[in-house]
Amino acid sequence: MARTSLLSLAFAGAVIAAPAAALDDLNWLSPDADRAAALTTAPAECLAMPTDPEQAWLASLGQVAFRSPALLGGLAARSGMSCDTCHRNGHGNPAFFIAGVSGAPGTADVTSAIFSQTRGDDTVNPVPIPDLTDAGAKSSFGTMRPVGDLRGFVHSVMVDEFQGKEPAPAVAEGLVAYVAALKRSACPAEPSVPIRFRHAAGELSGTYAVLLAALDRRDPNAADFVLRSLNLALGRLAQRFPGAPEAADALPALGRDLGALRPLLRDDPDGARRALAAWRMRLDATLKTLAVREAGSLFDRRTVERFLAGP
Ligand code: HEC
Repeated sequence: MARTSLLSLAFAGAVIAAPAAALDDLNWLSPDADRAAALTTAPAECLAMPTDPEQAWLASLGQVAFRSPALLGGLAARSGMSCDTCHRNGHGNPAFFIAGVSGAPGTADVTSAIFSQTRGDDTVNPVPIPDLTDAGAKSSFGTMRPVGDLRGFVHSVMVDEFQGKEPAPAVAEGLVAYVAALKRSACPAEPSVPIRFRHAAGELSGTYAVLLAALDRRDPNAADFVLRSLNLALGRLAQRFPGAPEAADALPALGRDLGALRPLLRDDPDGARRALAAWRMRLDATLKTLAVREAGSLFDRRTVERFLAGP
């Protein structure tokens, strides 16, 4: 225990609290990588959305969970890390590097005491972060501590490795459905996608739709998880607009007001829906003003390059 907290402190001081952390994603970017490219492009997701409506719902909930720091516990969550940090859009991440966790860029020690008190071992044994596309068809997962089924492996990643709380059942199921739906046959022709404002805004809309779907399904636990994920996504969006007044004021206010709706999800789902519709209109208005500022934001490659070269 004592060893873990000391390590976490050292880790937080050395890496996570560095001034560059204005953008969470910088915390795990190898200094040797083309950082501007890593911040403005991603490998394209190869998602074969299931045709069965129940499986499609689970996969879309799982997609939110995969990208959500609300899923993982401990230091990982506090620093904004999600499954997607390492498995970008379900692939690997050749630019991933955290001192003490990685060996070469693109590797991670998933038994590091930095992340986990239960799984930490004393050896540094980083392994390459695997691409999860087509992983659903495999019969053994992981090389360090192989597990025979995807459900068991994903559960152990969340709860043991990253010290997440036991997630709502639908969220855990969803994550498995999402990973199982990542298929090589569904890869788009273009292997890489730009990360622009409209993609981030589209992701917010998608997450909002999943929140409404969770309410329709009368699953307050799933709805609560999606709401917290949406809230964290607003924070990540704000990081891309350093200096924009909307990012300093309007987005945090939207986050606070969204957080205040949490009790309604369970106690008054109809009231929650009405309040969310009003909230959504405010979000859209804020997104409109942010869209105009994209050129000066960290969605813009040249602005990112200047930002990285800055003091
Ligand atoms: C810090 C980086 C990191 C994070 C965060 C992370 N993973 Fe991984 N993941 C890895 C590494 C490294 C391996 C390889 C482990 C091994 O070989 O034992 C792996 C392996 C896997 C595998 C097995 C793939 C295979 O082909 O055997 C699955 C499935 C997986 N991760 C899913 C997830 C999910 C779901 C999450 C979020 C809950 C997640 N990972 C978060 C780094 C990460």
